Amino acid sequence: MKIVNGFDLIAHAEKHGLMLPAFNTTNLEMTYAIAKGLNNAKSPGMIQISSNNLRLSDPEAIVYLTKRALEDSDVPIGLHLDHGKSYEDVKACVNAGFTSIMIDASHLPFEENIKEVQRAVEYCHFYGVPVEAELGCLQGKEEDIVVESDAKTDPDMVLDFVNQTGCDLLAVAVGNVHGLDIEPKVDLPLLKKISEISPIPLVMHGGSGIPFETIQTARAYNLIKVNYGSDLRKAFVSTFGVAYDKNHNETNVIELSLEAVENVAKEAEKLVKIINE
Ligand code: G3H
Ligand code: ZN
Repeated sequence: MKIVNGFDLIAHAEKHGLMLPAFNTTNLEMTYAIAKGLNNAKSPGMIQISSNNLRLSDPEAIVYLTKRALEDSDVPIGLHLDHGKSYEDVKACVNAGFTSIMIDASHLPFEENIKEVQRAVEYCHFYGVPVEAELGCLQGKEEDIVVESDAKTDPDMVLDFVNQTGCDLLAVAVGNVHGLDIEPKVDLPLLKKISEISPIPLVMHGGSGIPFETIQTARAYNLIKVNYGSDLRKAFVSTFGVAYDKNHNETNVIELSLEAVENVAKEAEKLVKIINE
């Protein structure tokens, strides 16, 4: 299948009452593995890459890899920019063929966050691409970016933020965290409150480590997209770590890479099946 447009993917998920897992990629192996995991589970979802992870590749390379990975795909899969850090990254990804975008200006004061999102929305909507924005700030570690402050999404700011920015998906900070080092404590009553105010669907970042019952409950609170990064990265990295522990002279990169694809695919398949149970 072709890479599916983000608006179409959201509509498909809403129609079928599904949550979309958005799995973080970094390279060819992870991209192939995510496509495989989603196809094995026969579930739609997103492949996403953060601005931070584009350092070794570039948007054009990722679009090329994704197209190849989706050649035999039978399920709808979109390609999303995760934690887009600048307007330049947003433009580069849309121009390359990404079908969904996040602009993350959540570290900026409210009004500046709004301005950054407005700019991204104007560009993306011109090309029919939806925009995710974040209000509040997640604690934890997203690759090498560490955030120590924990600022939950203020429900009183939600409507104003969504109306002023025109964003299509809202990423919330409700006790969810990035990475595996801090235990997430999702405040479901706060999520419920936000869902009653927000006119658009919600996104949960930091999926790794959140109890599955919490995610399943959150489905009733207009949660449409859940991000999983660390769980997949761990499946990838541990493949090489285990092999190296066994044999410090291990050099078979191709066999280990193929094994890593299998391990990441299994993890993605497991996650998507459980969250939509
Ligand atoms: O944007 C990506 C994520 O929010 C991934 O978080 O690594 O805790 O699963 P995670
Ligand atoms: Zn995130």
